[in-house]
Amino acid sequence: MKFELPALPYKKDALEPHMSKETLEYHYDKHHRGYLKKLAGLIEGKPEGEKSLEDIIRSSDGGVFNNAAQVWNHTFFWNSMEPKGGGQPGGDVARRIKDSFGSYEKFHEAFTSTGSSRFGSGYVWLVRDGDRIRCLSTLNAENPLLQRSTPLLTCDVWEHAYYLDHRNERAKYLDVFLRHLVNWDFVAEQLKKAA
Ligand code: FE2
Repeated sequence: MKFELPALPYKKDALEPHMSKETLEYHYDKHHRGYLKKLAGLIEGKPEGEKSLEDIIRSSDGGVFNNAAQVWNHTFFWNSMEPKGGGQPGGDVARRIKDSFGSYEKFHEAFTSTGSSRFGSGYVWLVRDGDRIRCLSTLNAENPLLQRSTPLLTCDVWEHAYYLDHRNERAKYLDVFLRHLVNWDFVAEQLKKAA
């Protein structure tokens, strides 16, 4: 794999006022870059250096797993958002939400409660398992690739993701994420890949 940090898909101030430039400066430049740097140091000159990031995640543990998964998770998280995003999706995503949750409102409740109830640090995800989509949360660096579920959307619920903008109010952050930041086109692309 190449040890390059993928560029953010938007400018650092493009998600304001819902996610600040300061949050992205720390989260992307310090945290995400830091995980990549640590991973590069851990696998330099080792067989893992020839593997894809996904293969490293599926075949490692300890520090290598944690840093590789955090690199992957953050890239997926940046792509899960867009300026002027959020609100209700249309098309295939809307149909699948209705089929699996009953309504968009029930999905909103499931996503925010799953993310709010994750004790400590982690992520809340929308994933596809066969014909169904569902919400789940993972601890620390873990992600749905380990459970053979197909990730469609994620929100980082580590405190570093929301403390500057929302202090300790994780539920408020998750509500803002769904109302103003979700990139539903990205979710639709992941659904097509999993078809
Ligand atoms: Fe993070």
